[in-house]
Amino acid sequence: MESTDTREPMKDLLLHNIGELATPLGSTARRGPDQRRVVRTPRQEVLCRDGRIAFVGTEAERIRYHGDLPGTPRLDARGKTVIPGLIDPHTHLPWAGTREEEFAQRLAGVSYQEIAAGGGGILSTVRSTREASEEELALLARGRMDRMLAWGTTTAEAKSGYGLTLEDELKQLRAIRLADREHPVELVPTLLAAHEVPPEHRRERERYLDIVCQEIIPAAAQDQLARFGDVFCEEGVFTCAESRRVLEAGVAHGLHPRLHADEFVDSGGARLAAELGALSADHLIAVSDAGIEALAASGVTAVLLPGTSFFLMKHTYAPARRLIEAGVPVAIATDCNPGSSHTESLPMVFVLAVFELGLTIEEALTAATLNAACCLELGDDLGSIEVGKRADLVVLDAPNLLHLAYHYGINPVREVVKGGVHVHSVSTGR
Ligand code: NIG
Ligand code: FE
Repeated sequence: MESTDTREPMKDLLLHNIGELATPLGSTARRGPDQRRVVRTPRQEVLCRDGRIAFVGTEAERIRYHGDLPGTPRLDARGKTVIPGLIDPHTHLPWAGTREEEFAQRLAGVSYQEIAAGGGGILSTVRSTREASEEELALLARGRMDRMLAWGTTTAEAKSGYGLTLEDELKQLRAIRLADREHPVELVPTLLAAHEVPPEHRRERERYLDIVCQEIIPAAAQDQLARFGDVFCEEGVFTCAESRRVLEAGVAHGLHPRLHADEFVDSGGARLAAELGALSADHLIAVSDAGIEALAASGVTAVLLPGTSFFLMKHTYAPARRLIEAGVPVAIATDCNPGSSHTESLPMVFVLAVFELGLTIEEALTAATLNAACCLELGDDLGSIEVGKRADLVVLDAPNLLHLAYHYGINPVREVVKGGVHVHSVSTGR
């Protein structure tokens, strides 16, 4: 049968006049001292071909191997810094409604948990998300993805978890799929049906867990709507035993596990992540020494969310230095959601990671690129600037990498290239 595909073949793109190219290397998560091994090379060029990186080197090397490339579109980095596209491995992207009144209550001293106990918090977003259509959720997600892109994020994980019924969880996952198709930011979907017990099942939580395991997980897996399975394993939400049940049901349907673990108290979430060989254990503000050891021994990535500590005004942050010293690969993420971390900006989280988690700038870059890619099982394709990887690149308005934390509170991003296509520019506003 003749192909009806009339799309033009993808053009090459030469990113030239790079002042400093900064990237981790490899396709597996970097841990311990390796997490800060970032190469910073002056005066580079990157040639993108068929959406992938075909060459990285100096102008003279490029001319030697690829010639003058007449007619190849060029993007001038103007002597600035280029890093890999940022990867956000933990977001709650497709939600409806806002919670600024609760935020004001928190500013007045009411705690996040008190608000949740009063029927607010996650359940308030569940109410508004249930009322929204798939198309409305996709539209809202796309607005957030526009902001992500403008701040340098080229790939983001996106969780359901504000539906809490079969229909509404699948609606959220379909909204993720829809938004992903129509936007340069690439989304990786996670089913988080066990984010909270919905109000209608408060008196029979077992029944809700049955629905999650026997109906929602199989349906999401069958339609390939989710790649990962997640659970909010926390005192007052789901116990370790309940979390294990949900994550194992996910594994049986091909959903690789990751989990919200030890955010407020040490409830054994990190140990559970280690036992299950989860891709990541996220939050970890209250992780125990035994939990850290278990993560290190099993190679689970710690996804740290310092924006959540900041936004909840907790003044306590995950023990990032102890995690790195124990040999746990560390990634960072926004946790983008309307209650506990209302931001799309990974550069903001990067600054918090340096100032509050105590990461070096190089460790933080690896955390927001290669380690983030690896815990989404995308390390072969994304997370570093190397020949063969997908051409996801960010030009910073900065003379070198250090400015990514040094010059804080500004948007450092000038240009974004996704899959070899120039998709965002501050100068043209594209
Ligand atoms: O990761 N911890 C659980 N879930 C989110 C909060 C979601 C919300 O408050 O709506 C989190 O912080
Ligand atoms: Fe979260």
